[in-house]
Amino acid sequence: MKISILTLFPEMFTGFVETSIIKKAILKEIIEIEVVDMRSFTEDKHNRVDDYPYGGGAGLVLMCQPVVDAIKATRTEDSLVVMMTPQGKTLKQSVSYDLAKEKHIILLCGHYEGFDERIRSYVDMELSIGDYVLTGGEVASMVVADSVIRLVDGVITQESHEDDSFSNGLLEYPHYTRPREYEGMEVPDVLVSGHHENVRNYRLKESLRKTQKMRPELIESRDLTPLEIKLLAEINSEE
Ligand code: ADE
Repeated sequence: MKISILTLFPEMFTGFVETSIIKKAILKEIIEIEVVDMRSFTEDKHNRVDDYPYGGGAGLVLMCQPVVDAIKATRTEDSLVVMMTPQGKTLKQSVSYDLAKEKHIILLCGHYEGFDERIRSYVDMELSIGDYVLTGGEVASMVVADSVIRLVDGVITQESHEDDSFSNGLLEYPHYTRPREYEGMEVPDVLVSGHHENVRNYRLKESLRKTQKMRPELIESRDLTPLEIKLLAEINSEE
């Protein structure tokens, strides 16, 4: 998969592509990341990419010409052009799974007050990472790229993301590693019992417990299995 990032601040991505799982995925040639400086497309003699808004108001607006020319130079018929904006659809694990199937994603990062509205005619999808406003789309695009890259085949093992929070609609169960006792807190016995079915049930139960506590709306909208109903009844009688 190729990910192209269209930005006015390419230097922000240096650490991102040189670290950990993203770096390994690039070295393994599973992922290619291209960072495109939109400023290099401007035809303005002062190198401007933004201008004052018609009708007045605060801030500067990204102009059509450099942004659209950057999109046109980067896209092919296999590309999905994604605009990073707080006005977009909210990123969820299910969206990341869908994006992980694409051949080429172009992440368009805005800055300043936003994009000239006409730029929206050149994008396939608008994506937000949450209901808050960042200074630009760069950090948001890293969030999207990171969550998508780890789901691309071969980047991490399948089991590593099958049990992730949200992958099965629940928050993930708790994890423990050595030592078995830390400042009086013990690892639950079932996890050292070697009994696989009990471990599976314990993890499902703790997943349900955590989800009910932190994100009850995920339980309310869930089609519960008979086992999940039984485990939730146990949890409710314990608490
Ligand atoms: N740009 C500014 N804020 C954003 C957000 N919440 N999501 C995506 N892009 C953004």
